[in-house]
Amino acid sequence: MTLALNRIYHGDLIEIMKRFPNESFDLVFADPPYNLEKSYSAYEDNKKDKEYIEWCNQWLEQYVRVLKPSGSLFVINLPRWSYQHAVFLNRYLYFRHWIAWDALSEPRGNVMPAHYAIFYYTKSKKHFTFNNVEFSFTPNLCYRSKCIRNRPPSIKKPLSDIWTDIHRIKHKKDRDEHPCQLPVKLLERIILIASNEGDIVFDGFVGTGSTVIAAKKLNRHYVGIDIDRKYIEITEKKLKAIVSLLRLPETVAI
Ligand SMILES: C[S@@+](CC[C@H](N)C(=O)[O-])C[C@H]1O[C@@H](n2cnc3c(N)ncnc32)[C@H](O)[C@@H]1O
Repeated sequence: MTLALNRIYHGDLIEIMKRFPNESFDLVFADPPYNLEKSYSAYEDNKKDKEYIEWCNQWLEQYVRVLKPSGSLFVINLPRWSYQHAVFLNRYLYFRHWIAWDALSEPRGNVMPAHYAIFYYTKSKKHFTFNNVEFSFTPNLCYRSKCIRNRPPSIKKPLSDIWTDIHRIKHKKDRDEHPCQLPVKLLERIILIASNEGDIVFDGFVGTGSTVIAAKKLNRHYVGIDIDRKYIEITEKKLKAIVSLLRLPETVAI
């Protein structure tokens, strides 16, 4: 199959990815369903633990195969599942970082699960794209309205593996009709670190499009997949809006 760039495929990611050529993408990102019984319209989010991990290993195998030799893989999940992804990925790729994204979770259980684990791997030990970008952080980030009013100015600082400055999308008005949409800013950071303009970014669980929108804004090509046509329609609408709002070119030069 010839790979169509800047397209979102509809269907099961394993079936579709099997038709992609080897070593097609510079950066691959995965934000799978977390097996938390979330209400997706086209997917049952309640597999048995063993079944869930086996399923994850099947798509991770495809992710490894389609990654270019200089490429990077990022996968986000709950720590409960992430360490199992690492058991699989350590066989094929080089581990770079376990990034803790403190997304301001709600208290649940005895130990409040406050971070998502973003595992970062590369295919090559030495030759991979890495941009050492400095980011603006707001110190003493507190979310009470009084603190927001008195917040000190942002400072530039090198990136660490604890990310505390990107909120998960909290307010209904900022969300699409999707149970677990990621903020575009999170994907912009990952894309800036691990790819260059004109590179190809892949996401097999595109949802309502945070990855492809970030890729488009940053002048990268994208390829996405989702099993739910409704999410693809939302993503395509948002892509159109962003192209016209930011006056982006329809196509990206390779
Ligand atoms: C955690 S959400 C991804 C959200 C996305 N990162 C965003 O910011 O909108 C997981 C997505 O995977 C999709 N999905 C579930 N099973 C799939 C499969 N077998 N193949 C392709 N997509 C699937 C769901 O429809 C859902 O949109």
